[in-house]
Amino acid sequence: MLKLRNLYKSYKTGSVNYDVLKNISFEVKKGEFVAVMGPSGSGKTTLLNSISCFIPFEKGEILLGGENISGLNEEKLADIRNQKLGFVFQDFMLLDGLSVIENICLPQIIADKDVLKMEVLANKLCNTFGISHIKDKYPAEISGGEKQRTAVARALINQPYVILADEPTGNLDSKSARAVIDSFVQAKSELEATVFMVTHDSFAASFCDRVIVLKDGEVYTELTRSENRVKFMDKLLDTLKN
Ligand SMILES: Nc1ncnc2c1ncn2[C@@H]1O[C@H](COP(=O)(O)OP(=O)(O)OP(=O)(O)O)[C@@H](O)[C@H]1O
Ligand SMILES: [Mg+2]
Repeated sequence: MLKLRNLYKSYKTGSVNYDVLKNISFEVKKGEFVAVMGPSGSGKTTLLNSISCFIPFEKGEILLGGENISGLNEEKLADIRNQKLGFVFQDFMLLDGLSVIENICLPQIIADKDVLKMEVLANKLCNTFGISHIKDKYPAEISGGEKQRTAVARALINQPYVILADEPTGNLDSKSARAVIDSFVQAKSELEATVFMVTHDSFAASFCDRVIVLKDGEVYTELTRSENRVKFMDKLLDTLKN
């Protein structure tokens, strides 16, 4: 579903070049829930922004559903962001002037889809994520967890290849954070969604199938969950200590 081959990216500050991502390669399969962890400055956000096509990279390839998205023009990238990727941001990025259901429909409106069909899809997603009772409310009238569930539903409405999330639980209390993780787990199990999430939170990451640990712009290690969640979390905490 998502494949990276030798991704390399540097930032230039003055005349000095900093290698930020050094030949990153990995694959995320359909229906997998994968987290990226690692120390501050290890390149997690840069990695996510490269996959999102928000920033250019110098070398390597990113394949999305088999299509190489490296070097496409801006118009083509905008289509990919709208139709092949779903985004969940730390600060929700819901539009205040639109109701919950309208926010969920937004990616379909942008893609110029049929209004009746999009309403059916949006209502289904509201059902799946338990937000039907608040669908006519506005973002200012709902809780943090409800906002984030709305954001997850919006990310899913175009049936993207991958949902990308940068610190989706970062601004939330533990109950709302749990609601977000539960909605990712549910998106995976009920809708076969593929989720790729950057997080500092070992608790959130312990719900994933796999965790890719970055260090100094390289894949330091990958951990696959085979044991129960609590043991997996211990293993993550242990790995991140080093
Ligand atoms: N636009 C930029 N120009 C120059 N250097 C940058 C830029 N953005 C990030 N960097 C540098 O690249 C490195 C990786 O940054 P990145 O934001 O990807 O880290 P991160 O792993 O997401 O960190 P955090 O956990 O703090 O969010 C850091 O050393 C950072 O200072
Ligand atoms: Mg970051």
